[in-house]
Amino acid sequence: MDWNCFVPVTRDRSFLTWLLAERVYGRLLHQLLSMALKEGLRNWQRVLWWLILLAAGLLGLLLYGLPGVRHLEIFIPMGTCPLAKMSLRDNFTGLLHLWARPDVLTCTSWGAPILWDGTFDPDVAQQEAIQQNLTIGLTVFAVGRYLEKYLARFLETAEQHFMVGQRVVYYVFTERPAAVPRLPLGPSRQLRVERVQRERRWQDVSMERMRTLHAALGGRLGREAHFVFCMDVDQHFSGAFGPESLAESVAQLHAWHYHWPQWLLPYERDARSAAALAPGEGDFYYHAALFGGSVEALRELTAHCAQGQQRDRTRGLEARWHDESHLNKYFWLYKPAKVLSPEFCWSPEIGPRAEIRHPRLLWAPKEYALVRD
Ligand SMILES: *[C@@H]1O[C@H](CO)[C@@H](O)[C@H](O)[C@H]1NC(C)=O
Ligand SMILES: *[C@@H]1O[C@H](CO)[C@@H](O)[C@H](O)[C@H]1NC(C)=O
Repeated sequence: MDWNCFVPVTRDRSFLTWLLAERVYGRLLHQLLSMALKEGLRNWQRVLWWLILLAAGLLGLLLYGLPGVRHLEIFIPMGTCPLAKMSLRDNFTGLLHLWARPDVLTCTSWGAPILWDGTFDPDVAQQEAIQQNLTIGLTVFAVGRYLEKYLARFLETAEQHFMVGQRVVYYVFTERPAAVPRLPLGPSRQLRVERVQRERRWQDVSMERMRTLHAALGGRLGREAHFVFCMDVDQHFSGAFGPESLAESVAQLHAWHYHWPQWLLPYERDARSAAALAPGEGDFYYHAALFGGSVEALRELTAHCAQGQQRDRTRGLEARWHDESHLNKYFWLYKPAKVLSPEFCWSPEIGPRAEIRHPRLLWAPKEYALVRD
């Protein structure tokens, strides 16, 4: 249930174009910058010439296909972690190696780690979680055609990669419990199916999600689990997703937006909406396909989002990206204790990137026409 493909995507993207665009533009920008810096205005004609070339190239790429242009965003710096030289500890991973990934931002301004491959030791987290005798919940909504299309693969790959070696309880929310595939589960892993009402529009499924989660967290799920992840079903696991990702509250950097400057992020801007962020507000753009935390923290998060959505609805409003807009508002007000890099929830449609070393969840290609009624 991922309704946030904000940028139009063309599908005939070739890998070579990507590489070419990256190389050519890296080189051009580098030339231009060093020339401008070294030679100053003396050489303004040459700089101008390069600028024209650059603009023409950009235009060409734009005509050739958006993806190539989009790929340029990797040149927008993410910033560096001021804490990297100090030690940041985490309850599950022990000492984090924030300096191990100088190519990316590894902490937030409020001191939360941003988990990238190489900054944590998965074995330490594994031992810590076993020692704490944790039960980890994973909730997923499989409504309408999303059930047949995505649920089996989501669960099969979760068995292979999600919290392997821990006690796990899956909660599948669906309007058709009988259609949920019965998969063989590993030891100390269980699947529970909860019936939900069928909503007429997919927007309403999204609207109801927070309220349904809130109720579940106050019931059996909340009694059974210590930490819970809430995920969209139209994705599958592709790498180890372990207890290093656990924290009081966990947010996921959106794969499409993690390089973008704050003023470009697709927050809700209508000031009448409960999800609205004013200009200058917002830290990152978080993806609603994955969020998590302790049961208590998630109770508050889901209550806050559900109330915001209800308030908007009584005013005849609907936030731009539905529950994701409200989630972003919540995480602006109450900062997440841990942020997951886009490696944890990656979109293969973006193409390969050097900084994405080890994707753990991959979005399925969007087929809205097929799955949305
Ligand atoms: C670990 O938790 C499970 C279920 O919550 C419980 O049945 C079991 O007794 C616990 N084990 C220990 C050693 O506390
Ligand atoms: C670590 O655990 C302690 C106590 O269990 C808790 O108070 C603290 O908030 C946790 N820290 C993080 C970053 O989750």
